[in-house]
Amino acid sequence: MMRRNPPKPDAHLCTPLDGGSLAKAGRDPLHRLADRIKADSRITVLTGAGVSAASGIPTFRGPDGLWKNFRPEELATPEAFERDPRLVWEWYDWRRQFIARCKPNRAHEVLALWSQRYPKFTLITQNVDGLHERADTANVVRFHGSIWEVLCWNGCAASPKRWRDETVPFPKIPPHCPHCGGLIRPGVVWFGEGIDPVVLSCSQDALDCDIFLSIGTSSIVQPAASLIHGADANGAFTVEINVETTAAASYLDLSIQSPAEKTLEEVENLLGGLGKKNR
Ligand code: APR
Repeated sequence: MMRRNPPKPDAHLCTPLDGGSLAKAGRDPLHRLADRIKADSRITVLTGAGVSAASGIPTFRGPDGLWKNFRPEELATPEAFERDPRLVWEWYDWRRQFIARCKPNRAHEVLALWSQRYPKFTLITQNVDGLHERADTANVVRFHGSIWEVLCWNGCAASPKRWRDETVPFPKIPPHCPHCGGLIRPGVVWFGEGIDPVVLSCSQDALDCDIFLSIGTSSIVQPAASLIHGADANGAFTVEINVETTAAASYLDLSIQSPAEKTLEEVENLLGGLGKKNR
């Protein structure tokens, strides 16, 4: 079930090329990460709202984060939708219009490149914005669903389990099910709701990896925030890329405080960059 948990004290941290513990090991963090990435590496990436920040999409808990201006309990729970579907849809319709004007950034592009280049690559995203898919990323697991999908609120027999709808803006709020005339709801996972069992099992399978990258997430919301423990338990080299230290930093092998769009670009250059052949 999607929920929040308290942050933990952090331990070893490094910004690229600072005097942190790892630099003492003679290799800066970006080289240490690039050294680990081989053609047959099993790479699993978990992304959060920070990866879309450079595309202009606000994060949830950052300084101008969505949850600073809106109350999740009024907009992102089944109870809130039951209470006021118009309010909830006004907010999701506004987000859809906003996201539709945004483009994938360099972080999305490099991850898409890696998904094409490394055969054993899985990207688990908490983001519902669809920018990874728009960057042609292969093997994306949508952990919290998609803002571009909808479901019939009544779950009517005539409607598919969920379907894609890119109408921006919706001509009528709240929008209705074309099959039963009842309400439709956004195809995202709300607080208090469970993760789709198929999605959960795909994610669990992907924790059997050599490298686990946690990028642009505050590592607060469960169960996504626990995936890194599973990868760590499987012996993966665990890395965080974030502009700040998160609750996860104390468990990781490498914590890089730098924007994702810049860091992934630098690591891609160390890997031989754009010229390097895809799979
Ligand atoms: N590069 C890397 N990290 C960044 C960048 C950037 N350019 N900009 C911001 N960040 C980091 C922030 O420091 C923060 O730790 O991204 C993180 C975003 O955290 P949140 O706003 O909490 O978003 P996220 O972790 O994705 O939230 C998880 O919570 O609200 C629910 O369902 C929603 O999927 C979401 C889940």
